[in-house]
Amino acid sequence: MKYDFDEIIPRRGTNSYKWDSMPADRDVLPLWVADMDFRTAPAITEALARRVGHGIFGYVRVPDEYYTAVIRWFERRHNWLLDQSWFIYTSGVVPAISVVIKALTQPGDGVVLQTPVYNCFFSSVRNNGCRIVTNPLKYEHQTYRIDFEDLERKTADPGVKLMLLCNPHNPAGRVWTREELCRIGEICLKNGVTVVADEIHCELVFPGHTYTPFASISDRHLQHSVTCLSPSKSFNIAGLQIANIIAWDREVRHRIDRAININEVCDVNPFGIEATVAAYNEGEEWLLQLLDYLKANYDFLCDFFHNHLPQIPVTELEGTYLVWTDCRALSVPSGELQESLLRETGLWLNSGTMYGTEGEGFLRWNIACPRKVLEDALTRFLHFVADRRH
Ligand SMILES: Cc1ncc(COP(=O)(O)O)c(C=O)c1O
Repeated sequence: MKYDFDEIIPRRGTNSYKWDSMPADRDVLPLWVADMDFRTAPAITEALARRVGHGIFGYVRVPDEYYTAVIRWFERRHNWLLDQSWFIYTSGVVPAISVVIKALTQPGDGVVLQTPVYNCFFSSVRNNGCRIVTNPLKYEHQTYRIDFEDLERKTADPGVKLMLLCNPHNPAGRVWTREELCRIGEICLKNGVTVVADEIHCELVFPGHTYTPFASISDRHLQHSVTCLSPSKSFNIAGLQIANIIAWDREVRHRIDRAININEVCDVNPFGIEATVAAYNEGEEWLLQLLDYLKANYDFLCDFFHNHLPQIPVTELEGTYLVWTDCRALSVPSGELQESLLRETGLWLNSGTMYGTEGEGFLRWNIACPRKVLEDALTRFLHFVADRRH
């Protein structure tokens, strides 16, 4: 491997949300919030260093080069031809989702979420005065599938206006297939429900699975959806705060643009632009090696559970670096499990219930860390489980 993902890079003292949210003298091992403990692609660091060297950090405009980099990447890697006029940039995918909800709903409208799902979806819906309508995913044989009959029923309610699709899905680990996405589209289109696709994890897909952009399926899917994209997860640049909203419909774009200005999240920063251009123009080799490393981490974790903790099934991971473990055999509520793990071992995972009531009994692991760190985390977890048996 050309890039050294085994290197343990101390992050304490960098104002890292993941590492610095607990006192430094506590031996906390954070595998919670979704950023990676790897240095980003060298091409990105170099582009940022050049920009820093300039020394002037005034307001920025987004250059054509930025759009070209995104468009070329999606066309080449995902067979999806975007048009520059469909773009609205903003400071993150969560701000993007929030403004799209504001733009396309009235308070009281229903928004479908496929639970368990990324926790900010819940707050974005609530903060806009909308109603959460759940279409719970079905968990069977360590994987999740969509309950289409339930989706039909939920979207048939005329008060339901949007569906937030997480593709690939955090924390279920699914990379939705073309067939599944087609069916979601058919059901939503028939019922006049717009699909808002959060595709932030789209590059983090493992062999045997293919990311299909929801909007790339057909003209109708494109015309009745809004997609939120960012290189932030895959290139570990979340702190640079940049994302794109892709909306084909001019009227929808106009409404989103209004909402963005009302929320005052219409500006991005010079580093986000430089990093995006470098990631999409020069970052692919790094990304492919990152994926190999993440897959090996996942296999390592699965072997560990299989050998030492067979009572705890690990959900199949098709994409993302967020692993969902079924800890129901421990008979401890997730919130309590998370707290005692942290208190007794320092290992900081996410409680499944952060992602909705359907996550009860589960824990989420962020495995985007050097293998030795993952091994340390697994060992702490094993001791924790062993101690509870006595
Ligand atoms: C599905 C999903 N959407 C959005 C985000 C965060 O996006 P941003 O940092 O661009 O607001 C995350 C972070 O984990 C995520 O998992």
